[in-house]
Amino acid sequence: MSLPDNSKRVLPGPTDPVALGIDPETLETLDALRSRYGNMVGITKPGGRSAYFINDASAVRQLLVKNHTRYRKGPGFERVKMLLGNGLIVSDGDTWRRSRRMIQPSFSRQNVHRLIEVMADCTVTRAAAWEAVAKEGGSLDITQEMNDFALELILKCIFGRDYEEQILAEGRNPFAFLSKDSARDLRVVMQVRESRDLIAQVISKRRDTTDEMPFDFLAMYMQATDKNGQFFSDAELLDELITLIVAGYETSAGTLNWAWFLLATHPGAELALLQEASASLANVQTPDQQTLTDMHYTQQLLEETLRLYPPVWLFTRRAEQNDILEGCDIEAGADVYLSPYILHRTATYWSKPDEFDPGRFDPEQSQYKKGERPYFPFSLGPRRCLGEYFSFLEMKVHLGLLIQRFHMTLVSDLEPELDLGINLRTRHSIILRPEIRDRQ
Ligand code: HEM
Repeated sequence: MSLPDNSKRVLPGPTDPVALGIDPETLETLDALRSRYGNMVGITKPGGRSAYFINDASAVRQLLVKNHTRYRKGPGFERVKMLLGNGLIVSDGDTWRRSRRMIQPSFSRQNVHRLIEVMADCTVTRAAAWEAVAKEGGSLDITQEMNDFALELILKCIFGRDYEEQILAEGRNPFAFLSKDSARDLRVVMQVRESRDLIAQVISKRRDTTDEMPFDFLAMYMQATDKNGQFFSDAELLDELITLIVAGYETSAGTLNWAWFLLATHPGAELALLQEASASLANVQTPDQQTLTDMHYTQQLLEETLRLYPPVWLFTRRAEQNDILEGCDIEAGADVYLSPYILHRTATYWSKPDEFDPGRFDPEQSQYKKGERPYFPFSLGPRRCLGEYFSFLEMKVHLGLLIQRFHMTLVSDLEPELDLGINLRTRHSIILRPEIRDRQ
């Protein structure tokens, strides 16, 4: 008599095939599966491929940190590839490893600190325009404002003075379609191609000039070398720069959009933010990095915004090798789905999960130590977001300077609807009315 094989724990799940895309239905489907079967669910997709929904925090950490080499990027990334070529977000294996090693030093804290001035400049320009709107009693499409702010900022950080001299030379921003057109259709792909041509011209001019290289991401990427002393080819450089533009603006813009909405609807949070900003940044034009690091409430407010509305709400991976996560078999070839949005709202991990409460990220109140939180808006492990520190500084500069000048009220009380594409956004723009604060 043979003994049953106890090493294999088959995960519970539906017997009928389940379709999973990168769309709003997928959020509902995954959430319903979790309610019914628990935090680890086995699924069969319509073509017969196995898939797993992993919402167990330790299993997520195990997959992303310890066992990450067993996986590559999963379904949905083909669409992103159309836009980004083979840049860091979509590449895998040796190509990714080489690029990550070459690019990572550009994001050192020291380098990011040198960009704080650009962050402050982009914020101050916006404040001037908002002041004019406030004086006329007008309102702001804050969603569009945040897209424009974050796009302008990343383009200036990448291209430095070439942003104005070459990119805006024709009197329009050729990348504006990125912040305006959310569709990922062929038209956008064509516009990305045109933008690549323009970036190629900027690179070529930089290569030809004898002037000293300025300090910006383009210069750092052009000077980066791999372990054999090789630079990026022009084609690789283009993929990495387009990746940086897209990765660097949409996520921060989305987070700031939600942050302004939450501030307009939570007066206590607005007051706490204002008090911290006034104490730290009154009469400051360009904040220094230590002051920004010490803005603990602002940090907590942003972390809580990212808990409730993580821009990358769904990650997918495809197993390249067999794996065991928390005792459960994941076979090679299977797709794995992880959702920060669902995990961040799972009641076993977070009390009153749908409530906005920045205090839960106060280290003195938090039930979790920082490295153990069931929280992964920037992913975890070796593929963790490279722009995390950059984005916190950008968002702190933006909110810290602007909250001192404006009180915002919502024009419509309707709860914003979620738009769940590759990134989580609001389906309709959030409209706010700015009022100029009395300054002492
Ligand atoms: C609130 C802001 C941001 C959030 C929530 C965010 C989130 C993420 C996430 C979840 C990933 C991993 C995706 C995956 O593995 O499937 C990622 C990767 C990445 N992010 Fe961010 N991001 C943000 C801002 C930025 C900024 C401002 C930059 C650049 C300036 C940036 C650059 C990148 C890059 C280059 C990668 C690819 C890393 C790799 O695969 O090695 N991100 N980001």
